[in-house]
Amino acid sequence: MQAFNVDQVRADFPILAERVHGKPLVYLDSANTSQKPEAVLKAMDDYYRHANANIHRATHLLSERATALYEGSRAKAAAFLNAPDLRTIVLTKGTTDGINLVAQSYGRSTLKPGDEILLTWLEHHANIVPWQLVAEQTGAVIKVVPINEAGELDLDQYAALLSSRTKIVAIGHVSNALGTINPVKVMIAQAHATDAVVLIDGAQATPHLVVDVQALDCDFYVLSSHKMYGPTGTGVLYGRAALLEAMPPYQGGGDMIASVTFEKTLYNQVPYKFEAGTPNMAGVVGLGAAIDYLAGIDRDAALAHEDAVLDYATAQVRQIPGARIVGEAKHKTGVLSFVLDGVHPHDAGTIMDQQGVAVRTGQHCAQPVMDRFGIPATIRASLGIYNTREDIDALVRGLHKVRELFV
Ligand code: ALA
Repeated sequence: MQAFNVDQVRADFPILAERVHGKPLVYLDSANTSQKPEAVLKAMDDYYRHANANIHRATHLLSERATALYEGSRAKAAAFLNAPDLRTIVLTKGTTDGINLVAQSYGRSTLKPGDEILLTWLEHHANIVPWQLVAEQTGAVIKVVPINEAGELDLDQYAALLSSRTKIVAIGHVSNALGTINPVKVMIAQAHATDAVVLIDGAQATPHLVVDVQALDCDFYVLSSHKMYGPTGTGVLYGRAALLEAMPPYQGGGDMIASVTFEKTLYNQVPYKFEAGTPNMAGVVGLGAAIDYLAGIDRDAALAHEDAVLDYATAQVRQIPGARIVGEAKHKTGVLSFVLDGVHPHDAGTIMDQQGVAVRTGQHCAQPVMDRFGIPATIRASLGIYNTREDIDALVRGLHKVRELFV
């Protein structure tokens, strides 16, 4: 493993050499989707050039190669999350797909009228709407843990809301809108004390934090490949084997069956029971390459680097007249959300883009968070391992330009 060197890391990401509107690209939108290293692009290209065939379905060499690569990525994902067993790793389309799978399979088959699903005010819409759908279908009720002015969960309220009626707790590990890192290990233990099952939305955590599902003791953990330097359209659902075994299939199709007759279909074993249809094989190979890429760098040093850039960004943005940071949790990673007095975030985003600076502006698929702070939107700079202080300097120059034009 190499010592963390941000210049070397940047050289691994070809798109960072791109120019936009004639300016060097400053990419500060990794919470939206991360950029991809050469190793991921090459793995996917090699897959199509040398291995492309359908998996699990043919005896020819290409199918064997494709199957080995696909199943190899499952093993890499298991190691990445320290999952105990390959049966616990379901390959999905991404975080949203994983949460919908758990809601519609586990939730729909177990929830009864009056049962409670406990969410938090920090959740992304993907960790709200699937639960609303299953609540409508089953008569379950949604409860929500409030947040404080800093954007941290109110843990007293969390403890107060947990009861024998709570059947499912679904919590983001890291908030996409504010960057708050939630104390999920403690929260999982508290939920288990009331026999609730816990799903952790790890979409914004796995690009930054080392995650160990056994140490967390969560029941489900979901992630998206594209947030962690892999391709779009793939992700992972970790689930406790006993839960996955007991859950009904989510979708029907090829590969999820053991035998089909018009009288009765027998389902395949887990995790295949949840992988209907021809999957995104090249994407899964790319996910495996992204995991290898992360395994090749010192993650602690990478996180220390990202934290230093986030601290620098926070200090710099604070000095801009009229700037107000939204979300000042003690434990944060990867995200700086803020508003500028007198400027709509979308206008700021457009001017920043003209300067070559890519940020996301809007409600970040987390409308309740914006409502909580009484604002329609924020400007969000979000970091990847490739960002530098120079990127933040460009952000700050862009914000001064915005103020010149609008204030
Ligand atoms: N979840 C993505 C974001 O935070 C879309 O931007």
